[in-house]
Amino acid sequence: MSVKATTDSFLPSAPPSIEPVTLRRATATDAAVLALVGAATFLEAFTWMLPGADIVAHCAKNHTPEAYAAYLAKPDTRITLAVTGVDVPVGYAMLSAPDLPSFDVLPTDIELKRIYLFSRFRSSATPVEGHPGIRTAQALLDAAIADARELGRTRLLLGTHAGNERAIGFYRRNGFSEAGTRTFTVGTQVCCDLIFAKPLEAVSR
Ligand SMILES: CC(C)(COP(=O)(O)OP(=O)(O)OC[C@H]1O[C@@H](n2cnc3c(N)ncnc32)[C@H](O)[C@@H]1OP(=O)(O)O)[C@@H](O)C(=O)NCCC(=O)NCCS
Repeated sequence: MSVKATTDSFLPSAPPSIEPVTLRRATATDAAVLALVGAATFLEAFTWMLPGADIVAHCAKNHTPEAYAAYLAKPDTRITLAVTGVDVPVGYAMLSAPDLPSFDVLPTDIELKRIYLFSRFRSSATPVEGHPGIRTAQALLDAAIADARELGRTRLLLGTHAGNERAIGFYRRNGFSEAGTRTFTVGTQVCCDLIFAKPLEAVSR
């Protein structure tokens, strides 16, 4: 496959089976990119579980350029984008200050608020630049863990729907264990989530 590296001539000669992925840190200029990939991956992830109107309401509120700009302006936010081709976003991982009101959060905690990949890039042997032999989701999680350690945090928390077996399998394989529950509202739907926690060793400086 040959792909010219300019946007006005982005004409692959044939659809690739799977494109190589590059990870890059999102910056304030990526708010619109994140809104798009955030809403699109949320929609794709939960078509099996949520009514369309609730997905639309949730994305219209939470996956906007303004919402991502506000996150990116906060000191604890770190977002890694997975991109293909000429910077086409296909997934992301987002760390932010914990927002888990029902949970006993410690000052040294941080939350993996989101980790999403389009399904074509899940469980794949997609080459990830700089991460040989690593699946894309693993490379995203590894980047988030490195960022959390860099911020000096000693525990990574996350909430996920109790029926999200695939994500839960991924988290357990990565050393997360169940630590609590929370409710999470999507549009008019009140979802029962599990909270998972993973201790982080301190980074040696
Ligand atoms: C969560 C996510 C990033 C993980 O990435 P991934 O590429 O699927 O992760 P992996 O393939 O490395 O691990 C998933 C594991 O679950 C397994 N699995 C696949 N479908 C499954 C299912 N329906 N039930 C249980 N396990 C399943 C996979 O085989 C794999 O197991 P393995 O490690 O033994 O091969 C990705 O699935 C995703 O984007 N999901 C949609 C968004 C989402 O739910 N995000 C989390 C919200 S909190």
